[in-house]
Amino acid sequence: GTGAASCPVSANAAAFDPFGDAYQADPPASLRWSRDEEPVFYSPSLGYWVVTRYDDVKAVFRDNITFSPSIALEKITPVSEEATATLAKYDYGMNRTLVNEDEPEHMPRRRVLMEPFTPEQLAHHEPMVRRLTREYVDRFVDSGKADLVDEMLWEVPLTVALHFLGVPEEDMATLRKFSIAHTVNTWGRPSPEEQVTVAENVGKFWQYAGTVLDKLRKDPSGHGWMPFSIRAQREHPDIITDSYLHSIMMAGIVAAHETTANAAANAIKLLLENRSVWEEICADPGLIPNAVEECLRHSGSVAAWRRLVTKDTTVGGVPIPKGAKLLIVNSSANRDERHFDNADDVDIRRDNATDHLTFGYGSHQCMGKNLARMELQVFLEELTRRLPHMELVPDQKFTYVPNTSFRGPEHLWVQWDPSANPERTDP
Ligand code: HEM
Repeated sequence: GTGAASCPVSANAAAFDPFGDAYQADPPASLRWSRDEEPVFYSPSLGYWVVTRYDDVKAVFRDNITFSPSIALEKITPVSEEATATLAKYDYGMNRTLVNEDEPEHMPRRRVLMEPFTPEQLAHHEPMVRRLTREYVDRFVDSGKADLVDEMLWEVPLTVALHFLGVPEEDMATLRKFSIAHTVNTWGRPSPEEQVTVAENVGKFWQYAGTVLDKLRKDPSGHGWMPFSIRAQREHPDIITDSYLHSIMMAGIVAAHETTANAAANAIKLLLENRSVWEEICADPGLIPNAVEECLRHSGSVAAWRRLVTKDTTVGGVPIPKGAKLLIVNSSANRDERHFDNADDVDIRRDNATDHLTFGYGSHQCMGKNLARMELQVFLEELTRRLPHMELVPDQKFTYVPNTSFRGPEHLWVQWDPSANPERTDP
């Protein structure tokens, strides 16, 4: 009933497949035809309406009442009964948390939980991010070759997230084990066996998050988002419930980890592919903050997001019925020539780079955006300073986990001559 019965489906729209090679290789390039010819279309294979232009994507993000975020984390591939049974075995009780929560519940919670994300509070974490980054670079700086994803970019954002949440050091190793890829499970096409394996891990993750939370409750005086939220619960027990705390403990790790790891890998790959830009930021680190923004625009780590239409409406002039599901392709919006001049170019001096929609927009805009930005800046500062001469290992084939939304290379091999490291030649 919510499909495109009255609307003829064009050949391009019929052929659109977000799990196919074209979208997987380059989402915004695969949708250029749509931005130019049919910016809002129904995809019969996906069962979603797809929105690809900047103004339309932003308008959908802006109105979270007409366009509900409630389906943002829904599994795009239906869950098997066995996986559901596995989760039940662990008493899995993940509730809605911020990102997929409707009003009027969402805003009061967002307000109460926001303070640890302010730039002033984040400044407290910068030394930790830099120390961790340096420790990881120390391990490979003399080796001449590294897979930056496996050797740095996967683990550092996860450890930063655990510190940010205020997880005790002694529990970090256990929680890291459970933070497995949720990407395939939420936005991909997992096999029934994969679903059960992930469900086992998610169940254990959930239980352990509860254990850590109980420990933090005994002394919630420390730094971090969880101790802060436990204290906030005392003042607002009706807004921040027990099950809500349990949910944000787990959701916080997931929200902060892969998004940032992928964004960093995309950024470094993009800059090294545009060597002159890399060399410019090596020569002038003051360019790094805007370069980070431009990388998030050009090759962000969240390629598409989802909304549910709550009443008959229009998007970009196209009538959309109540109950329809939208795939809003923010990576396509970020390459829309109608908003960004020469949108495919990497221009680290672009004055509207921060207009990108990689963090979403409006009332649900990413709360962690400044933490992510800070991490990306520190990674680039440390790598440009210590390995300005690194380059991509030639002819490597980049692979991506097939899914609609989370995007970053699984491996990123770089190489350099260690005898030319600045710390040796100019200590
Ligand atoms: C929400 C992207 C890093 C915490 C979101 C949304 C996106 C996003 C697209 C939904 C926005 C919307 O619906 O308008 C990203 C990207 C990141 C990143 C690309 C890294 C480059 C982080 C980090 C944290 C975090 C590091 C936490 C420490 C959150 C939270 C929300 C959110 C709590 C829900 C906000 C709400 O619904 O009110 N993020 N994120 N994110 N993100 Fe991030």
